[in-house]
Amino acid sequence: MKLAKNLERLGTESAFKILAEAKKLESDGKKIIHLGIGQPDFKTPKHIVEATKKALDDGHHGYVLSNGTIDCRKAVTRKIKSLYNVDIDPERVIIMPGGKPIIYYAISLFGEQGSEIIYPDPGFPIYESMINYTGAKAVPINMLESKDFSINPEKILSLINENTRLLIINNPNNPTGAFTEKSKMDQLAIGLKKFPHVAILSDEIYSRQIYDQKKMPTFFNYPDLYDRLIVLDGWSKAYSMTGWRLGWSVWPEQFVEHINKFCTNNHSCVNAAVQFGGIAALDGPDDFIIMVMKEFAERRKIIFEGLNNIKGIECSLPGGAFYAFPKVIETGMNGQEFAKKCLHEAGVAIVPGTAFGKKAVDYVRFSFAASQNDISKALEKIRKMLV
Ligand SMILES: Cc1ncc(COP(=O)(O)O)c(C=O)c1O
Repeated sequence: MKLAKNLERLGTESAFKILAEAKKLESDGKKIIHLGIGQPDFKTPKHIVEATKKALDDGHHGYVLSNGTIDCRKAVTRKIKSLYNVDIDPERVIIMPGGKPIIYYAISLFGEQGSEIIYPDPGFPIYESMINYTGAKAVPINMLESKDFSINPEKILSLINENTRLLIINNPNNPTGAFTEKSKMDQLAIGLKKFPHVAILSDEIYSRQIYDQKKMPTFFNYPDLYDRLIVLDGWSKAYSMTGWRLGWSVWPEQFVEHINKFCTNNHSCVNAAVQFGGIAALDGPDDFIIMVMKEFAERRKIIFEGLNNIKGIECSLPGGAFYAFPKVIETGMNGQEFAKKCLHEAGVAIVPGTAFGKKAVDYVRFSFAASQNDISKALEKIRKMLV
């Protein structure tokens, strides 16, 4: 049998591999604290579950529109209006089975031999994987250059050439937890006006998870870019719905037809009943998000102080999401070695920085989607492991 050459270029998301390894150790009787996988450790709010159950009871069992039900798309535009005071035509909204397919489709629009796509490194591993798969050149933005891992607009703009077709930005960022302020995003948006041949994929999946009362510096702030702006967001992280597979995206009018074809070819439509849950989430109160962020803020303090109090570990304060991304090289181990030792000796599952790109050799990612007690215990175990 001969397999397609492109397969050799397809990457993966190692956080899932680490989860499998940790689960295996658990089934062998070892106690593991999970700080690896990037999903909130809360149940989906009840009113969302109830709306979905009702939709099933009411008989919403069939195919629906491939771009999402009009009610769900309108709920997305209402939320965008209430969050950012921007009016978006629901025909530009496409409901997806999670945020991930949005990355796949956006990259598929532009990726081919000879084209270049700029992406954050370290970053969500699917960007680089998909760029490579299409045969395009993956051009990394070195996110480790600034101490707080925030975006450097000038550096990003300097990577653009005539072959650049797409720029991927992720703010707040996975895996670093970095948050880039609006002033820098403004600078980037102004700079991008000089490059009308470059489309933008703004991955805003952590838009509702920002600390210190700061506002989301969304790309929706720049109407001048709307004819080449793709926004990725969704329910997974904000409403603890990672397993529901529900995401939303906004596309320039000119791309909608192509993306609709991708949807029809791949998944036909998103689960009808789940879209009712999605509407309930967006139209419902934000109490859940406020409660989660209060809790995450406490955990951020514990992990930030705890990691910096361990000799050899240096961690910047995460400004968003629920990740800490410390440098661990001064412990005498690189990120890979450190993560392996943590899992097997301390019983703490974390992810090596290189799971998010080649540059992050000296780093590891901690997800603080675990109880304060578990985080404190994990820190203590790591401290003991290092003496
Ligand atoms: C930056 C980023 N984008 C997109 C996604 C995909 O989200 P979903 O689970 O909705 O597919 C993730 C998930 O971890 C992520 O971290």
